[in-house]
Amino acid sequence: MIILAFESSCDETSASVVLANEGSFTVKSNIIASQIETHRLYGGVVPEIASRAHTEAISRITYEALAVAGISLSDVELIAVTANPGLIGALLVGVTFAKALASANNIPLVAVDHIKGHIASCYLDESGERPTPPFIGFAASGGHTAIYKVDGYTDLCLIGTTRDDAIGESFDKIGRIIGIPYPAGRGFDELSREGFIKATGDEVNFYEKYKKSAAYKDKEMTLPSPALSDDSLDFSFSGLKTAAINLLHRFEQSGREIDRALFAARYTYEAVEAVAKKLSLALDRYPGHDLCIAGGVAANSHLRKRLAAVAKAHGVKLFIPSLSLCGDNGAMIAAAGYYEYKNGNRADSSLNASAQDSITSI
Ligand code: KG4
Ligand code: ZN
Repeated sequence: MIILAFESSCDETSASVVLANEGSFTVKSNIIASQIETHRLYGGVVPEIASRAHTEAISRITYEALAVAGISLSDVELIAVTANPGLIGALLVGVTFAKALASANNIPLVAVDHIKGHIASCYLDESGERPTPPFIGFAASGGHTAIYKVDGYTDLCLIGTTRDDAIGESFDKIGRIIGIPYPAGRGFDELSREGFIKATGDEVNFYEKYKKSAAYKDKEMTLPSPALSDDSLDFSFSGLKTAAINLLHRFEQSGREIDRALFAARYTYEAVEAVAKKLSLALDRYPGHDLCIAGGVAANSHLRKRLAAVAKAHGVKLFIPSLSLCGDNGAMIAAAGYYEYKNGNRADSSLNASAQDSITSI
């Protein structure tokens, strides 16, 4: 089945053509028009500017996606589109475009939840290595830090989440304060690596050695864990963020320059350890479930390494999409859309976008 999929929930417009064959996928094209440069000027996504940029890009990238895949619109057998959650004006661009295209060309349409799309990016691995439900899914992005029990391809249940800020949002906000351009995740990752190496003197096993280093024991650099101390699978990243801002202020007020790399390493360590702790708890609770992580923050090198150790300790497999599929893209929407279609779900011209999450907890 040839699927044309659209993603426009935040600051990336994407159109992708994916070939689905009995649950194995071939990405024929995955065109992403990023607005990052535009939003960088403001230090974050400006919703109105995002909607306008999506409107300007969507038609062009659709032609491009079809051309790169070497097909025409008449070959398309299914259109999938992200309908929620996200910025409402941004989502509406993709939804309206997809509805018009589907109805004018008589092509079936399915609506996709953005987070189900991120989890579905784990099904796109070209090696054929992919998770099979049931498994534990972790979505880590600019808007989500959520743990799901994935019982079926379209059957996800929220079992843990952040009570306030998302992990990616916290990297972006703290990164901005220490001078990393938006979106700060990748720069934060690199600066932290520098900090870990500085703290341990080891260029390879720096993360494992970090806790024993003098830098970790430095009381002035202490930060709280964003893992809630109860037995829930929940996080609070705003506590970590506020403590980090206070720490930076203390240095500034006493006229001292903070070591940015050591600070970034400390921040990353607390964030990653919190995720490792709650995902370990989830794997204890659901024995035999493999682990799959997705979303922009799944690109984080320290998180990837640490969670590989968590999965190994639990005797389960870890699935992470390739770096190019961690961020927002249309191919993941195509994979999730395929399963919505198989499940009998269809959308029509009454489809509307929604800013809200649709995956509920137990
Ligand atoms: O999934 P995504 O592309 O968009 C949303 O759905 O939010 O995620 C974007 C987030 C941003 O906060 C960005 O800073 C973060 O992913 N990110 C990273 C890394 N690369 C991107 N965070 C940590 N480490 C990275 N290497
Ligand atoms: Zn996303």
